[in-house]
Amino acid sequence: MIMALLNILNYPDPRLHTVAKPIKEVNADIRRLIDDMADTMYDAPGVGLAATQVNQHIQLIVIDTSKEQNKLQVFINPKILAKSGSQDYEEGCLSVPGVYESVTRAEKITVEALDKQGKLFKLEAEGLLSVCIQHEMDHLLGKVFVEYLSPLKRNRIKTKITKLLRDR
Ligand code: NI
Repeated sequence: MIMALLNILNYPDPRLHTVAKPIKEVNADIRRLIDDMADTMYDAPGVGLAATQVNQHIQLIVIDTSKEQNKLQVFINPKILAKSGSQDYEEGCLSVPGVYESVTRAEKITVEALDKQGKLFKLEAEGLLSVCIQHEMDHLLGKVFVEYLSPLKRNRIKTKITKLLRDR
């Protein structure tokens, strides 16, 4: 099998603020993109990736929070139907390399989405999976997790990443 690794946009790239459009048809092109996004996520390595991060502005997310990294979950056109509670979690993001900051999000969510076959499913998530789905759904709205932080912290992060990428 040939692996195709996609280029991941880095914060503060303005393209990360694009709002993703719903997917009309889950066809071969979409499934190909899912495979490439999964390869890219596992290679990074990361636990989640939104299409926005690979400059594809459609509502598609891949997640794998399993320890063995062998349980890929695909969410197409995801919608949160219910949320409850709150939790703080130290989050990272493949678009914000080397930065980990605590963010407060809902503890439990019920999400509805299409899978890789275009079939509708409903899922209740908590803990890391819940955090991850909410984090990736933010990407589809053009929002990066550092936007929950203070402007001062955010500016420090921008400077840090710009320097990191320059020195690479
Ligand atoms: Ni992210």
